[in-house]
Amino acid sequence: MSKGKLRNAVLISHMIIENIVAPGDIVVDATCGHGKDTVFLANLVGEQGKVYAFDIQLQAINSTLSRLKEAHLDKQVKIIHDSHTKLDEYISGDTPIKACMFNLGYLPGSSNQDIITTGESTIAAIKSALNLLENGGIITLVSYPGHPGGKEELNLVQAYLKRIPQHVAEICEIKFLNQVNNPPLIITLEKLVGGKI
Ligand SMILES: C[S@@+](CC[C@H](N)C(=O)[O-])C[C@H]1O[C@@H](n2cnc3c(N)ncnc32)[C@H](O)[C@@H]1O
Repeated sequence: MSKGKLRNAVLISHMIIENIVAPGDIVVDATCGHGKDTVFLANLVGEQGKVYAFDIQLQAINSTLSRLKEAHLDKQVKIIHDSHTKLDEYISGDTPIKACMFNLGYLPGSSNQDIITTGESTIAAIKSALNLLENGGIITLVSYPGHPGGKEELNLVQAYLKRIPQHVAEICEIKFLNQVNNPPLIITLEKLVGGKI
C-alpha cells in the first residue's frame, strides 16, 4: 500500500510553516521533544535567524541538543528547559516572532508517557504566542486525541479558540476524515493586524 504525504499531520504543519518562515526569522518550537521540528525550523531560519525551543523534560532537551549538534544547527537555537507557559519570560515583546509550532502530547519513546501537554498550559502558551507574533505570523498545533488526556486537551483548546474574535486571528482546523484510530488534527492561527488578546 502506498502512503501519501498528506497522511501525516506533522508534515502538513511543516508545509504550512515553510510557506511563511524565511531566513533571518525568529520562531518558536513550544514542545521540542526529540527535536525534529526544531531541526526543521533551524534549517528554515538559518544562521541569521533564531529558534527558541521549549520542553519541560530534560530527556527531551538532551535529545534535541544532540540532534541539532549532529546537523550542525545548534548555533541558531536557544534551548529552554522550562514550560512554554513562560514563553514571554524568555522572549521579549520587542522581538516579534514569525511562527510558533506546538506538537502536543507526550514524548515518544519515553518511559513516562504521563507527562503530557495539558489544555491549561497549551492555552496559556497560545495566548503568549499570539501576542508575540508579528502580523501575518502563524501558530500551528498538532493535536493527538487518541492518548489518555489528549481528547480533553483538544476540547479545551478548541473551546478557547472558538472564543477568539475573528479580527484577532484566522483560525482553521484540518481533519482527516477517513483515517482510522483517533487520527491527529492540525490547527492553524494566522495573526491579523493589531490582533492582540
Ligand atoms: C509530541 S512531543 C513533541 C515532539 C517534537 N516536536 C519532535 O519533533 O520530536 C510533546 C512534548 O511536549 C512536552 N511538553 C509537555 N508539556 C510541556 C510544557 N508545558 N512546556 C513545554 N513542553 C511541554 C513533552 O515533554 C514532550 O516532549
